[in-house]
Amino acid sequence: MQPDTVATQPIAGQKPGTSGLRKKTRTFMEPHFLENYVQSIIDGIGGVVGQTLVVGGDGRYFNDRAIQVILRMLAANGAAGAVVGQGGILSTPAASHLIRKRGTGGGFILSASHNPGGIDADFGLKFNGPNGGPASEGVTAKIFAATEAITEYRIVEAQDVDLDTIGTSTLGDLSVEIVNPVADYAELMESLFDFGKIRALFASGFRMRFDAMHAVTGPYATAILEDTLGAATGTVINGTPSPDFGQGHPDPNPVWAKTLMDEMYGDDSPDFGAASDGDGDRNMIVGRRQYVTPSDSLALLAAHAHRAPAYANGLAGVARSMPTSGAVDRVAEAQGIDCYETPTGWKFFGTLLDAGKVTLCGEESAGTGSDHVREKDGLWAVLLWLNILADSGQSVADLMAALWRDFGRCYYSRHDYEDVEVDKANAVMDGLRARLATLPGTQVAGLTVTFADEFAYDDPVDGSRAEAQGLRIGFEGGARAVFRLSGTGTVGATIRMYLERLETSADALDQPAETALRPVVDAALTLSDLAALTGRDSPNVIT
Ligand code: G1P
Ligand code: ZN
Repeated sequence: MQPDTVATQPIAGQKPGTSGLRKKTRTFMEPHFLENYVQSIIDGIGGVVGQTLVVGGDGRYFNDRAIQVILRMLAANGAAGAVVGQGGILSTPAASHLIRKRGTGGGFILSASHNPGGIDADFGLKFNGPNGGPASEGVTAKIFAATEAITEYRIVEAQDVDLDTIGTSTLGDLSVEIVNPVADYAELMESLFDFGKIRALFASGFRMRFDAMHAVTGPYATAILEDTLGAATGTVINGTPSPDFGQGHPDPNPVWAKTLMDEMYGDDSPDFGAASDGDGDRNMIVGRRQYVTPSDSLALLAAHAHRAPAYANGLAGVARSMPTSGAVDRVAEAQGIDCYETPTGWKFFGTLLDAGKVTLCGEESAGTGSDHVREKDGLWAVLLWLNILADSGQSVADLMAALWRDFGRCYYSRHDYEDVEVDKANAVMDGLRARLATLPGTQVAGLTVTFADEFAYDDPVDGSRAEAQGLRIGFEGGARAVFRLSGTGTVGATIRMYLERLETSADALDQPAETALRPVVDAALTLSDLAALTGRDSPNVIT
């Protein structure tokens, strides 16, 4: 089987964002678009000759076609092997685990995460390195440079590989192994948590609802929660992955997981609710009439992780993305461990995890994870919560009340202004950036600005520097507003406005977040002039 070398030329717009390349599905389906990007990854990482790579995705529209192309290109580029999830399915954390467990050269993960799927929705592709984590900034820069210089790609002509049958076949000189996508991951989870205790919890009548949102975690959650841990049949809802996620928006937050929220706040609600996103790396946690913000969830997990066998000896340190609330900082301080503040995106946690500086990390965007893989991990977070609930015997609401009593409560919210014209979004950011130096001392909406800066990060492990990672405005008393532009959208620009306020007085820990954050929202809107510059008087999504 002779590889074909196909002449091509650079295609504009192949710059990887916060998490790989995300585009409209139809864009990915255009002639050469996928092939150019795959060849650029291969060239950007220095080739794949003799290597084995993991390949899998979240099952969205075009997942299977794209995998066939990637396999043919791996064969043509001299790779030795590919490990592929059956049916082309691998959750992002399961892919990360397989990359590590098999000692492979990395993996291709096909997903646009929580973005809707379908021919008129979104598609994405990212490369994870041999440590199982998203390619570093340095590597993505090389991949991007390759997309701008490409003149040809290599591909073999071949029949489709049967992705549905477990076993090994060959494609030219490439050995293709189709594996059960759940088995290795389920085994890893069992090694981390006290499954006996969680089983006993379910056996005692504890009720849970897990919304897989028609996305990739369905098979994982059903196998682990229902088949292994004995949760009642029907605990997992929307559990069959579909190419367009049941026409839904597989983002686990109170807006998009509204059905679950309604059930958890209704009469006779289950004890515990959770959801995960398109590719299984995000999670939402909700107790009976008790939504837990992702920032609070990270803090709670840090405070109680020792209840799970994997973390019984304590945490080496923790890390959070800059816009994530300071709740976990306070827990870390009490435990006497380091807390790192990194730019948005999981790729920035990799060096800290590899160096053993942190055990847990998380982002306000519903991502939490640990050193067991190099991605955030939705089901892992749910299982750690279950382990904590089983071990403590307390409810979600009780655990949260105790956390706030001990550390104060960081009221938190994110306002997203989606599909803003790029020029207008830039005007908001540029205008605010220009005024940062003048802000300290300013009084606005009853708050006084104490600091204002643009976040930059110096990686303490590899010394790399990431600049322009968001605008921060701090207020007296521990409130903060952050502005940044999304790096994962596929149309226009999305302005994210992150709001936080620390409350420590015992009688003010039970307010609606909206009320507690009102002054911060007002101050942020005034200082940024967002409404006038964008013509928007309210955000599209508040989480
Ligand atoms: C968003 C989240 C970020 C997360 C990323 C990938 O990126 O904000 O925390 O790591 O998705 O899931 P953004 O669109 O803000 O660049
Ligand atoms: Zn995701």
